[in-house]
Formats: sequence, C-alpha cells, structure tokens
Amino acid sequence: MSNQTATSRAEMPKAANPVLDRRTVENANRNLLKHLKPGLSVLDVGCGSGAITRGMAERVGPQGRVVGIDPSETLLLQARQQSGELPQLKFQTADVYDFETAEQFDLVTCARVLQWLARPEEALARMAKWVKPGGVLAVLDYNHEKVEWMPEPPETMKKFYGAFLKWRQEAGFDNAIADHLKDQFLRIGFEKITIEPQFEISQKSEPTFVETSRIWSEVAHLRGPQLVKDGYISEEDRTAAIEDYNRWIATTGESMQLYLLAVEGQKNG
Ligand SMILES: C[S@@+](CC[C@H](N)C(=O)[O-])C[C@H]1O[C@@H](n2cnc3c(N)ncnc32)[C@H](O)[C@@H]1O
Repeated sequence: MSNQTATSRAEMPKAANPVLDRRTVENANRNLLKHLKPGLSVLDVGCGSGAITRGMAERVGPQGRVVGIDPSETLLLQARQQSGELPQLKFQTADVYDFETAEQFDLVTCARVLQWLARPEEALARMAKWVKPGGVLAVLDYNHEKVEWMPEPPETMKKFYGAFLKWRQEAGFDNAIADHLKDQFLRIGFEKITIEPQFEISQKSEPTFVETSRIWSEVAHLRGPQLVKDGYISEEDRTAAIEDYNRWIATTGESMQLYLLAVEGQKNG
C-alpha cells in the first residue's frame, strides 16, 4: 500500500471524538505523571484534541512549556477551543515526518500515534532528535492483537474487529506496535529503556464500564464508514456490529481489556 493510503487511513474522522476528549493524563497517560514537574518543557506528538496535553500544561505551570503538534486542523481547533488561555501551552499543525524545530525538550511524548504510522521507527528517530540530552522519550501504544473481552463479544463485532485489523495492517500499520517498541528504541540508540504496562481495563462493576467499553462501537461508528468505503465490511455488518455490541455491554458483557505499554527511554546526556 502507498504512503498515501496510510496517510488517509490515519486521518481522524472530523466528527466530535468522545474517545479522545474523555482522556486525561491521570486516566490515559499516567506514565507521564512522574515527569511532569513545574518548569518542564514538553513536546506532545499527535496531541489530537489536546485533552491530555492540557493536563500536562497545568502540571508544568507557567514556568514550563508544552507544545502539541498534530496534522489534523479539526482536532487542533477543538484543542485550542477547549484549552482556554494557558500561556505555557501552544498547538501547532504539523506532521511528525516533516515537523522542524531547533528546540529540544525535557520530555517528548507520543501516545497512541505510532499505531497509525506506516514508518513508526522513522518517526521515533525524528522524535529522539527533539529530546534534550538526559531528557526522556515516552511512547504509549497498543497491541491490538491482545485485546480481551469477557465473555466473547458478538460475532458481528468480532467480524468488524477482524476487518478493522486487516484494514490497518494492509495500510502498513503495525497492530502489535506496543511489543515492538523496545527493539525500535534500541535500534535508534537508546540504552536506558523502561516498559510499563498501562492496560486499559473496563469492568462491569465500575460506573465507567459503558463509556469505556463502548470504544469499539465508537470506532465502528467513526472509523467504520472508511472501512465500508474501502470494501473491508458491508454497511449492514457495520451497523449490526454496533447494535449487537451495545447490547452486549448492556447485558452479558463483563469486561474488556486493551493491551497498552508505556515505553520510555532516556537520551544519553
Ligand atoms: C488516537 S489519536 C491519539 C491522540 C492523543 N495522543 C491521545 O492519546 O488521546 C492519534 C493522533 O495521531 C495523529 N496523527 C496521525 N498521523 C500523524 C502524523 N503523521 N504525525 C503526527 N500525528 C499524527 C492523529 O491526527 C490523531 O490526533
């Protein structure tokens, strides 16, 4: 598949994105909490609608600096509107492959973005250049092949999920990127690497179960039309997956677990 295919499949749908908006540093990027001290400078690559980025800016305070970059003008517009006036926070339209800066940051973070790139190692190598000597590169990403549901979700959703993984793989995206990050960090020259599981677990006993486990009906709703257009699933099967999965959540669904790893490397000082 061409770079063009990967770029268009990685493009976020223009509709409001509840999945991105409900994230915070605490609930969706907690590996960063130990770094985010007043005065820190941070570059957030693929910041989306800025929900997590805003929390970073609050933590580093006015003496710090946070720059969020993303190629989606739509998401950055939402990010600017939702962030209010924090002088230490800036958003810039840019793609990881062509962003240029002479600045180096204490922390460069990239959450749930490499899963959408056909050349993740090239992106990582570029990000490493933007880290100060002694600073940290922190990547958070999925292994989509290791999702777990209890009990099994409806066949229609399994079919949609299988089509989703195939659609991603055939665009050149690595469905198991989380488990490949350590080797990629080593290859681009990092020696001190830490790996922290950050599984996203939704359980029926929790008040957020409906909201968090719904991620797959939201993906079928937001991304699904692209799969239909590209011929990976029929519209009928897409809508059946949404309806059946929502029913599973409301009735027999007990838990869902997304496999996410936070991989961090300290740049040689
Ligand atoms: C799943 S969202 C993650 C947003 C946020 N980091 C989070 O964890 O909620 C993936 C983001 O990657 C961005 N993205 C896609 N291709 C990119 C690229 N080439 N360079 C930088 N960001 C990219 C998308 O626009 C989208 O905002």
